[in-house]
Amino acid sequence: MAAHIIDGKTIAQQVRAEWKVRADALKARGITPGMAVIIVGNDPASRVYVASKVKACAELGLYSKHIELAGDISEATLLGEVEALNNDPKIHGILVQLPLPEHLASHKVIEAINPDKDVDGFHEKNVGALVTGETPFPSCTPYGVMVLLEKTGISIEGKHAVVVGRSNIVGKPMALMLLHKHATVTICTSRTQDLAKHTRDADILVSAVGKANFITGDMVKPGATVIDVGINRNAEGKLVGDVDFASAKEVAGYITPVPGGVGPMTITMLVANTVRAAERLSGFGK
Ligand code: GUN
Repeated sequence: MAAHIIDGKTIAQQVRAEWKVRADALKARGITPGMAVIIVGNDPASRVYVASKVKACAELGLYSKHIELAGDISEATLLGEVEALNNDPKIHGILVQLPLPEHLASHKVIEAINPDKDVDGFHEKNVGALVTGETPFPSCTPYGVMVLLEKTGISIEGKHAVVVGRSNIVGKPMALMLLHKHATVTICTSRTQDLAKHTRDADILVSAVGKANFITGDMVKPGATVIDVGINRNAEGKLVGDVDFASAKEVAGYITPVPGGVGPMTITMLVANTVRAAERLSGFGK
């Protein structure tokens, strides 16, 4: 039987409506949550992502500031922009779109962001909080996956979750979030020997490696939940995930499509983190 397709677009709309209530409550107290996005250079994919982030903020009535910087700017200039946003009372969330051009040290730039405005959850203080317990700002993509699982009614406790990918943005925080919900977690990479042996044992399989058709139906356990975090262009220029959807959907119990699966959730959780940052900075939050 073909899998149930998890409709990320619809779930994202529901979750946005929930966060709009919180944003509106702040606005009623004279605080408009504000997010700033810095983009450096001309990467076309990054531009598309940033445009959708700014649009989502506008949809929920948030203030947003979009700062575009030339690809050859100095690190000092970029750090100066971050510092200005740290000190801007209208801005509660700061996001520096990654990857940065190679001459800029991403780590240094991320560490320059005020951790109370780090809505990506990438600052060491927030990463540390995720490792030891709960961060105020769970990284948006794995946070979105957790909310998708919850809203779809998929239980995590005691299940074997296999995460393919070990990036700081998705793989590592994803594994920790699943672990906190009492999954037994295996982290694989694109180099794992006999990867299929591990993926075939997954009740929940999350792929975040950035390779089209990397996970095929024969690598999926019958009835498993398959979450596809990949965003790739195939040979025909079409947007596809890491998972060969056609074959995997015949085996899985639940599966996310690309587009329309995890993507809309990532943006929604960024809005959520910005509202939470505004609540905390204004003293109305938890
Ligand atoms: N590039 C790809 N995903 C992300 C993300 O979640 N945050 C930032 N800042 N850059 C990204």
